[in-house]
This record gives sequence, structure tokens and C-alpha cells, in this order.
Amino acid sequence: MVRNTTPADFPGIIALTEATYPESPPWSEAQLASHLAHFPDGQFVALDGATGQVVGMAASLIVLWDDYDFDAPWRDFTANGTFANHDPEHGRTLYGAEVMVDPSRRGYGIGKALYAARRDLVQRLGLRRIRAGARLRGYHRVAHRLSAAEYVARVVAGRLSDPTLSFQLRQGFHVLGVVPGYLKQDPESLGWAAVIEWTNLALAPTDQRGTMPAHDSAPGGSGAPTFDTTTRAGESAEPGTTANSAA
Ligand SMILES: CC(C)(COP(=O)(O)OP(=O)(O)OC[C@H]1O[C@@H](n2cnc3c(N)ncnc32)[C@H](O)[C@@H]1OP(=O)(O)O)[C@@H](O)C(=O)NCCC(=O)NCCS
Repeated sequence: MVRNTTPADFPGIIALTEATYPESPPWSEAQLASHLAHFPDGQFVALDGATGQVVGMAASLIVLWDDYDFDAPWRDFTANGTFANHDPEHGRTLYGAEVMVDPSRRGYGIGKALYAARRDLVQRLGLRRIRAGARLRGYHRVAHRLSAAEYVARVVAGRLSDPTLSFQLRQGFHVLGVVPGYLKQDPESLGWAAVIEWTNLALAPTDQRGTMPAHDSAPGGSGAPTFDTTTRAGESAEPGTTANSAA
């Protein structure tokens, strides 16, 4: 079962973070409380039907995409994991800040159910899209022979499988670009992330060519960028407080 997060779920979420990212500091109670204070509708947990144990979570906020550089790091998009930058008044983009499923429960559709809850939320609120940084968890295995952009191109083509990006592509996301320095200290992605988007086609205003505006503030813009294996220069910012969080 997926429902909105309550403070009673915090110990379960912290345990889930410790199981998912044993090498990193987990979400703190203060951060989780801040998420609920800013945007309770955007926070979800998945519960084991029999025990009520937290087996998955997804955290998101609304941003005005034009406020951020395309290659901004996770900590900028999430205000260091606090969601103090949540901007429902101007923003039209749901930003996926975190999704995780208990390691012993993966592959049973829990992640899919969490993303379905996000898509429902986007449709209910009339938002244009979901965007996130998909940290490239499998990249470290091939970094000696492939650039991050080449790796992503192969994952998109189905020639390679990435534990995170392949899942997100299955959820209807497409890749807009590949950026360095998203989670700089992440040993698996080596900091690289794919900027990904799911478009709310139910709402999509289109221009005369039938393309979606790429920016929140554009009344009918130039069309969403498409992945062209071009990397974009990144800043040397530190990762977010929860070092490995994303999507
Ligand atoms: C990514 C994650 C949330 C997926 O959760 P999950 O519950 O295992 O995913 P699901 O069982 O719902 O899978 C949904 C779909 O994605 C596919 N999928 C899931 N993991 C996959 C993988 N490693 N490789 C390829 N496809 C995958 C499934 O086959 C399924 O496809 P279907 O819709 O055709 O049935 C989970 O692996 C996780 O918590 N990872 C660690 C944290 C993380 O990396 N989060 C993302 C940070 S950017």
C-alpha cells in the first residue's frame, strides 16, 4: 500500500535509508519533518500489507524549473535536502528528490507503485512534468572504457542495464541530458546523473509543431530538449546532505 508519509513513518524511513545507503548519513528526522511541513502531499511511503513496515519511500517537491541551471546539483534542487525551496505558486515541475525500496523487496513492483502515486499527484495538481536526476549507479563498472554520455546512450538503447535508469525508463521517463557533479561523492555514479523527465501529456500544451514547452514559464516554447549524448559542464558543488539521494 502506498500512502502519504506521516511523522510516525520517520523511524521506518531512516531504517530504510540505512539499508539502502549504508555508507552515507541517512535522512534526518529534521529533514523529513521539513518535507512534511513544506509539501505533505508530495511525500509517500510504501508499506508491507501484513506488518505495516515501511518498505519504500518517495520524496518530492515542486520547483520552477527556470530557477535552476540544467546541471545544478541535487543539493540545489532540494535546498540541501530540506525542500525549503518548494514553490507551488510558480512551479509547474514535480522534482523527484528521492526514491528507494528496501533491498530485500526490490523487483516486486513497489518502486512502480511509488511512481504511480507521483504521476497521480502531478495530474491532480495540474503540473506539467516530473523531472529528476537519475544517478548512474552502474557507471563505475564501465567508466574506464565509456564516457557517461556513451553509457547512458547504451542504457537508453537497451544494450546496457543500469539499476536506476533502466527502472526509470520503464516508468515512462526520457533522458534530457547527462550532467557531472550531481552527487559528487557517490562512488557508484562517480557524480554523473541523467536528467530525466516524465511529461504529463494529459495537460501538455503544444506549439504548432506539436512539441511541449521546455520551460515552466514558457507559454508555448521551443520544445523539450532531447538526449543527444552531449554532456554539459558542471559545477564543483558538494553533494546534498544525504549524499546518495536522488530521483
Ligand atoms: C530503483 C528502485 C527504486 C526500483 O524499485 P523496485 O521496487 O525494485 O522496482 P519495481 O519492482 O517496481 O520495477 C519496476 C520496473 O522497473 C524494472 N526494473 C527495476 N529494477 C531494474 C533494474 N535494476 N534493471 C532493469 N529494470 C529494472 C522492473 O523490471 C519493472 O519493469 P516492468 O514495469 O516492466 O515490470 C530500487 O531498485 C532502489 O531502491 N534502488 C536503490 C535506490 C536508488 O538507486 N534510487 C534511485 C536514485 S536516482
